[in-house]
Amino acid sequence: MDDAVVPAAAPTPGTSGVVRAGAVDVLAGGRGPIGESDVSPAAGPASAVEFTARADQTEIVATPVELRAVTRRFGDTVALDGVDLTVTKGEVVALLGLSGSGKSTMLRQINGLDQPTSGKVITLGQSVDGLNQAGLRRLRSSIGMIFQQFELVGMLTVLENVLTGGLARLRGPRLGTWSYPQAAKLEALDYLWAVGLADRAFQRADTLSGGQSQRVAIARALMQRPSLLLADEPVASLDPESTADVMLLLRQIARDKGLTVLCSLHQVDLAMGWADRLVALRSGRVVLDESAAALNREQVMAVYRPVPSNSAK
Ligand SMILES: Nc1ncnc2c1ncn2[C@@H]1O[C@H](COP(=O)(O)OP(=O)(O)OP(=O)(O)O)[C@@H](O)[C@H]1O
Ligand SMILES: [Mg+2]
Repeated sequence: MDDAVVPAAAPTPGTSGVVRAGAVDVLAGGRGPIGESDVSPAAGPASAVEFTARADQTEIVATPVELRAVTRRFGDTVALDGVDLTVTKGEVVALLGLSGSGKSTMLRQINGLDQPTSGKVITLGQSVDGLNQAGLRRLRSSIGMIFQQFELVGMLTVLENVLTGGLARLRGPRLGTWSYPQAAKLEALDYLWAVGLADRAFQRADTLSGGQSQRVAIARALMQRPSLLLADEPVASLDPESTADVMLLLRQIARDKGLTVLCSLHQVDLAMGWADRLVALRSGRVVLDESAAALNREQVMAVYRPVPSNSAK
């Protein structure tokens, strides 16, 4: 574990003099192998005022995630089967279960990428089934998503990838770092600083290691100023050291920002030491929902015994 790349506190944008000074240095002096014109400290077409004025439209709610009797069928497959779940603000929850048990399907219900066959999903205080396309877009802009495959745009710089996390707060399309307001660039650099990658701001994203890529994806999610962070197997493609790095970073950011996190994982030991609470699915049903401290390994491993082939899935 490299302590140097995981700061004790993820800074709030613009509040840390040290971080801000560092960010200005990078913006003013940074010269990477690509996009030299992109690093001009001149403000882009939109002003900083416009950028900050459109932020944080979603109310902070006491229970950011609420699923009531949620069932999702795909033909004969019951991916979620009468799931009830409430996650309170600031909780860090690991979602466990065999492959095919419904973890990704549950995360997709919460961010409105998929709709339940029956039941109700209330995310950040909003009933997801009542939202139109614009409402869904607004909701998703308040939810940071982190995926196994990072989903960075390889040909863009690290900085521009992070900047895309703030697009919902800007009017109109952006192309090139120069086209973002200075306030956005400084904020993005703050987050890169927080994940230990400010010195890579002008590097192409497709030249990063897996662990670095996932840290950039976390910075991009933070750029959304999310009220909720959903992660779907964020460390499944990482080596053990990067895994520990990324999970520690997620935990610290959650604590420092009071963020609610729901994260699917396959590593039981990691989940037990990382989460406040463990929720396990089995054939689409919640079969375990306990404080991590109250569980031992055997109790958690019981979730992973093979599902009989004739059972409904
Ligand atoms: N779009 C879909 N069409 C048909 N079946 C689907 C669809 N999405 C999910 N399923 C099925 O629903 C079940 C739950 O899938 P899901 O992806 O949620 O599992 P998971 O717990 O995330 O698995 P893994 O750990 O492998 O990622 C599986 O049987 C899967 O095949
Ligand atoms: Mg999955």
